[in-house]
Amino acid sequence: MPIQVKIFDTYEQISQTAADLVSEVIHQKPACVLGLATGSSPLGLYRELVRRYEKKELDFSLVHTFNLDEYFPIDPDNPQSYRYFMNQNLFKHINIPLENTHVPHGNDEDIEAVCQNYEKMLARSGGVDIQILGIGGNGHIAFNEPAEAFADQTHQVDLEESTIKANSRFFASEAEVPRKAITMGIGSIMKAKKILLIANGAVKAKAIQACVEGPISPACPASALRFHPDVTILADREAAKLLSR
Ligand code: GLP
Repeated sequence: MPIQVKIFDTYEQISQTAADLVSEVIHQKPACVLGLATGSSPLGLYRELVRRYEKKELDFSLVHTFNLDEYFPIDPDNPQSYRYFMNQNLFKHINIPLENTHVPHGNDEDIEAVCQNYEKMLARSGGVDIQILGIGGNGHIAFNEPAEAFADQTHQVDLEESTIKANSRFFASEAEVPRKAITMGIGSIMKAKKILLIANGAVKAKAIQACVEGPISPACPASALRFHPDVTILADREAAKLLSR
């Protein structure tokens, strides 16, 4: 099945639709596994999930979550860490037991062991029911940067200069952005039953075009999603403006 692209006028509509799809999974399977992303793209979705939880429309008590990636090295209580981001923007506002939430450990000495252990935990969880993704301006998903080959499993990466620059907006200076990260591989992401990619703004237009219509190539890691049977992109007009159809 080709990637479905749904185009919206506003970011608010994207977030509502993403929340509808995630809510549907939680309602159908209260002990589901959510694959979560950081960055600005899913923030509206998280706000909406919190709102629905507060209105008692959602119960997260049995839900498990796995995040895509984390900087390395970084402490979990560093405000720039993805663990901190998730706690602040979602976990502390809903009734999910914190031990059900997983973010790769950015402060462990044995980075190889962290990666292997993460894959094991993912496998033991029964697999991700719905995976939320953002996309980097260079077509990266999670921290899978453009490369010679698609990475399979959770692994460590050297961040690209463009990613360090793009993400420096969250740090006091560019020098403070960690140069490495731990990320789920394209193979681990592709195991999710359903994938939802959120893209808004003109800075994402090239990446969305390459992902949907360019060659399937590790030069655009997101293009691998075309091998997955159930991917929906929720985009605004700006992010979708280079698509030919
Ligand atoms: C980071 C994250 C990605 C995210 C991307 C886009 O590099 N590792 O998971 O999708 O940035 O971020 P944003 O949504 O802020 O544009």
